Amino acid sequence: MPTYDLIVIGAGPGGYVCAIRAAQLGLKVACVEGRETLGGTCLNVGCIPSKALLHASHMLHETHENFAKMGLMDAHVNVDWTRMQAYKAETVSTNTKGIEFLFKKNKIDWIKGWAEIEGPGKVKVGDTTYETKNIVIASGSEPSSLKGVTVDNAGGIVVDSTGALALPGIPKSMVVIGAGVIGLELGSVYARLGAEVTVVEFLDVITPGMDGEVQKQFQRILAKQGLKFVMGAAVSGVTVENGTAKVAYTLRKDNSEHVIEAATVLVATGRRPYVAGLGLDKAGVALTDRGFVQVDNHWQTSVPGIYAIGDAVPGPMLAHKAEDEGMAVAEVIAGKHGHVNYNVIPGVIYTTPEVASVGLTEEAAKETNRKIKVSKFPFMGNARAKALFQAEGFVKMIADAETDRVLGCHIIGPNAGEMIHEVCVAMEFGASAQDIALTCHAHPTCSEAVREAALALGDGAIHV
Ligand code: FAD
Ligand code: NAI
Repeated sequence: MPTYDLIVIGAGPGGYVCAIRAAQLGLKVACVEGRETLGGTCLNVGCIPSKALLHASHMLHETHENFAKMGLMDAHVNVDWTRMQAYKAETVSTNTKGIEFLFKKNKIDWIKGWAEIEGPGKVKVGDTTYETKNIVIASGSEPSSLKGVTVDNAGGIVVDSTGALALPGIPKSMVVIGAGVIGLELGSVYARLGAEVTVVEFLDVITPGMDGEVQKQFQRILAKQGLKFVMGAAVSGVTVENGTAKVAYTLRKDNSEHVIEAATVLVATGRRPYVAGLGLDKAGVALTDRGFVQVDNHWQTSVPGIYAIGDAVPGPMLAHKAEDEGMAVAEVIAGKHGHVNYNVIPGVIYTTPEVASVGLTEEAAKETNRKIKVSKFPFMGNARAKALFQAEGFVKMIADAETDRVLGCHIIGPNAGEMIHEVCVAMEFGASAQDIALTCHAHPTCSEAVREAALALGDGAIHV
């Protein structure tokens, strides 16, 4: 039985990246994964399949909404749901197989099965106990449950995100509970595919935590695309009768009770850390009061030699955050200096238009009690966005009024998820808005709007 330097539990973006970096740094590494395929939530039932469906449904939307405007006439496109699902599955499998290839290339042992930590240095999978110097818990997260709601993904009526990615067909109507990232991305998919989508949200705003102006504009754009919103509504239960779901909710403003019917209900009210079966109790690994694995600045748990990363630990539940922690903890274990800059982690919603943000929102920046300056450049002033029929959004930039240092940026517009990275790099280098404003940007690109927002923080934008 080999003794490992590191056993990683979970092969999602946190775990597989950690395993690869540790192997590159010369450690003998195994990764335990209970699923049939590598890649975790992200590759199997998260980021990747959802983006495949977003892409396909966006293409359909383009044929319906914009083709004729460009003189591309009579595009009669029908949806073959089985083929769309096959395209999604193929996209997933080429990526999960890619991780298998990377494991082989880096000589990482994939131990198949569910891991239990027996104590520091001991990981049990099936009947075998493996010895290791270090353990990294990268067990990820699962959808959180909602009182009064029973999810049955196989039934295809009341589903969570996993069920929503593989519905038996396109429903006529869908109620989405929760106007967060999952609800809006998958709600957009089905709205574009023809379902009547109603989003029921507990708060008075969508996408909590996001910049207020972005929230408002984003909701307006989604409403124009056909999504209906019921805001300030607490869902109390879902029942299914004769194949139809009934969602009961109370409007918080007047306590009135309502019921809305739909062919499918997507429960998208957040995710919680997945630590079941890991034996953390027995191993003495402490959890936070919200059930996350508690870690210090070096991702070490309360037990020396046992580390944790990704969705299982506090912080944004994002694949790239998990990946960064995976790389950093591997470096720490290898005796190097692992670092993650939590102030510069972008967040992207892959609707059309995309929504991307990094750093402080205007609201959060004001709370820091420093003097700030804020600019907003509309995509109406950007030639490329207009050609793409996506000029309804803007780039908002926030900088320190005294030092001009960029504190945050929020974009709602075409390819915002790609554009945000120049601001991430700028923030990573401690750049000023002037630094971005003085950087030549190619024309005609949507990124020019980022520069314009930076110019607006100085002597003024040009195209407004
Ligand atoms: P996970 O990816 O959850 O992987 C954990 C793995 O550990 C799982 O495969 C699990 O089977 C395994 N495991 C757990 N316990 C054990 C055990 N005891 N033994 C063996 N194996 C175990 N994030 C983004 O950044 N961008 C997106 O576009 C995006 N889209 C998403 C869309 C959806 C529908 C969902 C649900 C999530 C999305 N996310 C997205 C979030 C992203 O998927 C997670 O943040 C990311 O997967 C977390 O990575 P992780 O490695 O911590 O855990
Ligand atoms: P979320 O936390 O983003 O949103 C949940 C929403 O549900 C909130 O708006 C909340 O107010 C609402 N809600 C909670 N209880 C409710 C109730 N009883 N009735 C009505 N509304 C209620 O969670 P979501 O969308 O499930 O996503 C989970 C995680 O997955 C997120 O943390 C996100 O980071 C990650 N993810 C990231 C993606 C991306 O980066 N593009 C895509 C999809 C998921």
